[in-house]
Amino acid sequence: MSLVITDLRKRYGDTPVFSHVSLTVAPGEFVAIVGESGVGKSTLLNCMAGLDSWNDGTVLLDGMDLGTLGDDQLARLRREKTGFVFQAFHVLPHLSVAQNVALPLMLLGQHDDDRVQAMLTEVGLGDLGQRLPQQLSGGQLQRVAIARALIHRPMLLLADEPTGNLDPRTALRVMDALVSQTRAHGAAMVLVTHSKAAAARADRVLLLSADGLSDHADPD
Ligand SMILES: Nc1ncnc2c1ncn2[C@@H]1O[C@H](COP(=O)(O)OP(=O)(O)O)[C@@H](O)[C@H]1O
Ligand SMILES: [Mg+2]
Repeated sequence: MSLVITDLRKRYGDTPVFSHVSLTVAPGEFVAIVGESGVGKSTLLNCMAGLDSWNDGTVLLDGMDLGTLGDDQLARLRREKTGFVFQAFHVLPHLSVAQNVALPLMLLGQHDDDRVQAMLTEVGLGDLGQRLPQQLSGGQLQRVAIARALIHRPMLLLADEPTGNLDPRTALRVMDALVSQTRAHGAAMVLVTHSKAAAARADRVLLLSADGLSDHADPD
């Protein structure tokens, strides 16, 4: 089992964000999470990667209880097991496209230019590896972020509104890249999105509210 969250509760100071959040994501499964702005979707995604802490409950990633790990262990688990696609790209402006994509491999002490080139080709950026991020469009940058999140073949991809800033056509291409790449690598994906079209491609759609996650059968 790749990700098991049990009865998670989170508050900032005295302000509750969510409680009773339980979720099991099977290997290779694609789960979409929807919910109103401010309900804690980004916070929950960060908890899944051990990037944020919680007040009660457990997060098990590949059998490891994230709440019991120290910062170094968390950082290593994150590097090895997860990929994160942030809404705001977070590409490094002074590195080329290829160097940005290679970064997670470098952090693992691996170098594989062929794998980087193959991944760039797979997301439709095969000729753009030497460019700087400022020379790319928003949709191209988001595909750089996807390539970077998958280059080290993580078992879990976490994506926070990855099509939020994109026009519908570009959003479709970015979703195509996300779905085909996670499927090709057998990775599970948790996608936070406001897009009905994006959510419709998931195996399951869940609604986050203050009381936890519930089935969201109709994305309307
Ligand atoms: N670092 C923080 N300190 C205090 N409150 C925060 C912090 N980060 C987020 N919040 C609050 O927690 C709630 C959930 O935020 P967030 O996870 O970003 O929601 P969503 O992604 O669903 O829009 C919001 O009310 C937000 O203002
Ligand atoms: Mg958010």
